[in-house]
Amino acid sequence: MNLAEYQPKFPFTQRHLLTLQDWSEDDICQCLSLALRLKAMQKRGEAQTCLSGKTLAMIFAKSSTRTRVSFEVGATQLGGSALFLSTSDIQLGRGEPISDTAQVLSRMVDGIMIRTFRQSDLEELAKYGSIPVINGLTDEFHPCQVLADLLTIYEKKGTLKGLKLAFVGDGNNMAHSLMIGCSKLGIDVAIASPDGYKPNPTYTAWAVANAAAQGSRVTVCTDPLEACEGADVLYTDVWASMGQEGEAEKRRKAFGGVYQINAACLAVAKKDAIFLHCLPAHRGEEVTAEVIDGPHSVIFDEAENRLHAQKAVMALLMGGGQTQKNA
Ligand code: CP
Ligand code: NVA
Repeated sequence: MNLAEYQPKFPFTQRHLLTLQDWSEDDICQCLSLALRLKAMQKRGEAQTCLSGKTLAMIFAKSSTRTRVSFEVGATQLGGSALFLSTSDIQLGRGEPISDTAQVLSRMVDGIMIRTFRQSDLEELAKYGSIPVINGLTDEFHPCQVLADLLTIYEKKGTLKGLKLAFVGDGNNMAHSLMIGCSKLGIDVAIASPDGYKPNPTYTAWAVANAAAQGSRVTVCTDPLEACEGADVLYTDVWASMGQEGEAEKRRKAFGGVYQINAACLAVAKKDAIFLHCLPAHRGEEVTAEVIDGPHSVIFDEAENRLHAQKAVMALLMGGGQTQKNA
């Protein structure tokens, strides 16, 4: 698979990024290809102007470092601007309806990125607004992170199709989006989670169907070493996600000592396996310090790629045909 062969086509087929399940393989590859081009342009110091005069509203109902900084810096680098809106400050947090918020913002800005709890809130924003809506993380999905992850895997491995990614830990938003994103591109996915914390069966079924169409595989098991066997990419995420702080102790018991990427996982993976983590990470819990700070880890390249991948998302959804001329 050569991403350079995918050229962004305008108008882009998608209006929003709510979940990668809505995007085709071609949509995802166009986005990754554009991200590579935008990254190369930025490294060469070339001006990028496709968001000139445009504003992205960023609504946050949860904390963020990477998502907030990468969207704001990305919009600025593309010649536009971004507006940070915490739900603890805006009227949405005091009960103003999502539908009214969507319609008001649609009169003033050119796109909305939202990090919130319920996927249905994101869908409502998209339904009532008249501008693109981008999922900056919900309890169910984290598609922007997976675009950055796919970009990182491609840069490190030179291909995507035919690889194997192992995810060890909670069957959470990251597990869901990884299963979906990887299966759309023909990457095998093996998830190892304890009983009671397996990925949502509906999303697993979507991923299994995507994989069947690609001739790849999606499997869910209980044994981390079984999942990591022969993997090109090892991935994990926190045991308790944002909003699950009250379950932290219970989860520590369910995951502790077993659901961790460590030297034993590396030993059964491919020799040149890379380690990815969306971050923030808890060393000594879902990953050992030895692995996350060791030679297989590419977590900071991955974090940087949030910027490049999201610039591509904004350029495709908000930049119109400008991207062709200026990116
Ligand atoms: N990975 C990620 O989304 O990081 P933030 O929570 O810091 O945005
Ligand atoms: N699963 C984590 C991801 C953080 C980027 C969470 O939702 O908190």
